[in-house]
Amino acid sequence: MAIRKIVKLGEDDVLRKHCRKVDKFDKRLHVLLDDMADTMYEADGAGLAAPQVGILKRVVVIDVGEGLIELVNPEIIASEGTQMCIEGCLSVPGKRGKVERPAIVRVHAQDRDGNHIELEGEEFLANAICHELDHLDGVIYVDKMLEDVTDQYGEDVE
Ligand code: NI
Repeated sequence: MAIRKIVKLGEDDVLRKHCRKVDKFDKRLHVLLDDMADTMYEADGAGLAAPQVGILKRVVVIDVGEGLIELVNPEIIASEGTQMCIEGCLSVPGKRGKVERPAIVRVHAQDRDGNHIELEGEEFLANAICHELDHLDGVIYVDKMLEDVTDQYGEDVE
């Protein structure tokens, strides 16, 4: 397990690329997932996507305070409603923005061993899922931001 360097927006175009699907559920993937979780917790984040550590694979980790969630090849298969979210991103330090997201999302993904799983998230978890999945297609929340609210909300919340 190791802390990896988080790529910041503007440093590297890896954040703007589409990630490849994972087809090998091997030791290498497990190390990546372990390192991503370590890196997310170390940075006090609620989620991290593989391109943020320079890896173009469809892999994200999320923890909104309810335990670690690992999603490999995730896809949103249903969504419902809308919510207004205040987002930040470990790749865009010091910024906060208002983004509209679905209120509830249902996700199909695989776990670290390739088993198919489904997960439903609402509120902050739905928010985190949408934010992290966007990273897999090179989308950063600032692209969708309705308003920059850095001044109102400060810099230190993820
Ligand atoms: Ni992010």
